[in-house]
Amino acid sequence: MDGNGRWAARRGLPRSMGHRKGAEVVKEITRAAGELGIKYLTLYAFSTENWNRSEDEVKTLMGLLRDYLQSDLKEVQQNNVRIRFIGEREMLDADIARKMAEIEADTLRNTGMTLCIALSYGSRQEIVNAVKKTAALVKEGDISLNDVDVKLFSDMLYTKDMPDPDLVIRTSGEQRISNYLLWQIAYAEFFFTDVLWPDFNKKLLEDIIKNFNMRERRYGKA
Ligand code: IPE
Ligand code: MG
Repeated sequence: MDGNGRWAARRGLPRSMGHRKGAEVVKEITRAAGELGIKYLTLYAFSTENWNRSEDEVKTLMGLLRDYLQSDLKEVQQNNVRIRFIGEREMLDADIARKMAEIEADTLRNTGMTLCIALSYGSRQEIVNAVKKTAALVKEGDISLNDVDVKLFSDMLYTKDMPDPDLVIRTSGEQRISNYLLWQIAYAEFFFTDVLWPDFNKKLLEDIIKNFNMRERRYGKA
């Protein structure tokens, strides 16, 4: 979800206003995804690298996150949505981490769409953690080296028991992956749009899905 800062700058507004509008769009797109029958929606809200932004901006983003967890997600929960979070939780403030755990527990048995929010998320860090977990199992003798395969390794990632993404959309004209789900996107389709995240909407999402549906996915076969 990229482009909040530029959206604000173009209007002569502080970056925080772009983030505020961006959070509104998160609500709209989550609702739209449910209506369109999407089973899993993952949103890249804050990366490990985003911690390097100014103290002021991080504070703004964490404030918005608190509001989002407290009010916006309440509404989402009522729609039978299962909510989960991926990322390095130790980095987040304790009250935020506690709220996240609570929301996950409360929605665990919901049977509708899964909304996955990547927070303080970095894919390389996730992979390194998974390597450590796997190595520990081998070292303890719980598994043998030959047991390590794609399935086992996938289960060591934050995304265990979620399917790999079919489609990755990045807004704001940047055409890069920025440490996002590197393992999981092995066969994902990509869509890059110049639209800034605060201007993203349901109609655009529908158009992108139409485009996706016309693609032929071969998974390496001829
Ligand atoms: C995305 O918008 C929001 C977050 C990364 C939290 P940006 O803040 O990256 O906006 P630009 O890229 O500066 O326009
Ligand atoms: Mg950006």
